[in-house]
Amino acid sequence: MDIILIAAITIDGYIARRSDEVITWSKDLKLFKKQTMGYPVIMGSNTEKTLAVELDGREKIIVHRNDKPEKILGELNTEKCFLIGGGMTYAKFAPFLTHMYITPHPIVLGKGIQLFSNLIEELPLKFLRKITVNKTDGIFQFQYKVIR
Ligand SMILES: NC(=O)c1ccc[n+]([C@@H]2O[C@H](COP(=O)([O-])OP(=O)(O)OC[C@H]3O[C@@H](n4cnc5c(N)ncnc54)[C@H](OP(=O)(O)O)[C@@H]3O)[C@@H](O)[C@H]2O)c1
Repeated sequence: MDIILIAAITIDGYIARRSDEVITWSKDLKLFKKQTMGYPVIMGSNTEKTLAVELDGREKIIVHRNDKPEKILGELNTEKCFLIGGGMTYAKFAPFLTHMYITPHPIVLGKGIQLFSNLIEELPLKFLRKITVNKTDGIFQFQYKVIR
């Protein structure tokens, strides 16, 4: 099963200003919808509270602090699932990721929630492809495979 991290990040590597921020600066929601439609989406409880869009057509799996990633992933019967945030949840599932879809946005926050709130190991990546989101604004999604 492909376990795909998908995130909009700032140029300095943040995904939000605060854990309760509703993200309004992300410009790749159309692509996010297209890519995740029909697949389970896994998110932390903070992210669920800040969702700016309805995730219709996708099974929503909400992760809490005592949940074990192995168990959540082991119960899925799908060719792929998406890990949609936030920083604590990306970090929790980091050892299981197979792919990362990252869209850098032209904004610098200086501080905030990092893509991985608490990453304990390096993740070597192989570049797969680049998807154009908005050429004029310089917004592209970069897709990587995690090398194990
Ligand atoms: N830019 C993007 O692409 C993007 C994507 C997704 C989210 N976001 C943003 O990211 C932010 C949320 O990220 P987040 O990292 O704060 O939260 P999160 O990963 O969405 O959810 C927090 C997770 O950590 C657990 N947790 C909370 N306190 C903990 C503790 N002391 N020890 C261990 N686990 C704990 C929670 O469990 P409990 O339920 O048990 O508390 C929950 O599973 C929001 O602002 C959201 O808008 C941005």
